[in-house]
Amino acid sequence: MTMRPEKPILLTGASGALGRMLAGTLGAEGWTLRMTDIAPFPDPLPPGARFTRADLNDGPAILRQAEGCGAILHFGGVSMEHPFETVLGPNLRGLYHVYEAARREGARVVFASSNHSIGFHERPQGNDPKLDAGCDFRPDGYYGLSKAYGELMGRLYWDKHGVENVNLRIGSCFPKPVNNRMLSTWLSYPDLARLCAAAVTAPRTGHCVIWACSNNSASFWGKDHRDRIGWQPQDSADAWHAELAGRGLGDAVEERYQGGGYCAMEYSRGMPSPRDAFAPE
Ligand SMILES: NC(=O)c1ccc[n+]([C@@H]2O[C@H](COP(=O)([O-])OP(=O)(O)OC[C@H]3O[C@@H](n4cnc5c(N)ncnc54)[C@H](O)[C@@H]3O)[C@@H](O)[C@H]2O)c1
Repeated sequence: MTMRPEKPILLTGASGALGRMLAGTLGAEGWTLRMTDIAPFPDPLPPGARFTRADLNDGPAILRQAEGCGAILHFGGVSMEHPFETVLGPNLRGLYHVYEAARREGARVVFASSNHSIGFHERPQGNDPKLDAGCDFRPDGYYGLSKAYGELMGRLYWDKHGVENVNLRIGSCFPKPVNNRMLSTWLSYPDLARLCAAAVTAPRTGHCVIWACSNNSASFWGKDHRDRIGWQPQDSADAWHAELAGRGLGDAVEERYQGGGYCAMEYSRGMPSPRDAFAPE
């Protein structure tokens, strides 16, 4: 049972896979949810919740949804790689609307960022150090670039306006891991729900970035700001190791980089050479 926030919480992307899970879990814990999405909400509403259809492109509508809210769980938008023009409205303009609403309400933003904002970092091998959250952005497509933009929007709104924000660099959040890469990147639904609860209820966060994956021994990721919100994952992909090691291994580009298949999409740089001979950054 998590602490219940005093004010209502706005959940964008409520009708999506993660939004529905969060609506069910946090609603069952007695949270007062204001939920929105461009698509209808397919489940019974949690007690005390309100759902309003709205497009993230519609600034006044997002401002109205956020009225009186203490935090915005921002899970709406394009959630996979798409052409630039498709990503632009929901993920860039929409994010601006969310941050303006947060500024007006004095609300905290919890942003569903992605590992694809840093996907072109190589996977650690052997004794290589794991990647810290302060690493460079190395997006692996227009979707990942929009997530880097979102994290930087949080940096700007904290530095300039004091809007607190917690950026969750989500790995692969599914009911269970289904391929070799997810032995590193998987985040369980309960770990995500606990992470969101901690991000909303922590007394102070400033601007922070958290690797959102479960306690996987093959994780690519190291230091982050989780101590600020008091979150530790409780689940792990390790139990699937025997079943999944080797399943879904892809081509050389996919296997080399943390973003996996997203890095390989429309990759036109030529096949990577052996690791040490690869072109410098
Ligand atoms: N599932 C994962 O493993 C994962 C990994 C990294 C990041 N994320 C991020 O988490 C969030 C939720 O992911 P998901 O798997 O639930 O994705 P999803 O596609 O199931 O949900 C996204 C929701 O956003 C809504 N949406 C799209 N365009 C909109 C618009 N213009 N206005 C209002 N709503 C709009 C969609 O209708 C959908 O319900 C996304 O931001 C995604 O990028 C997810």
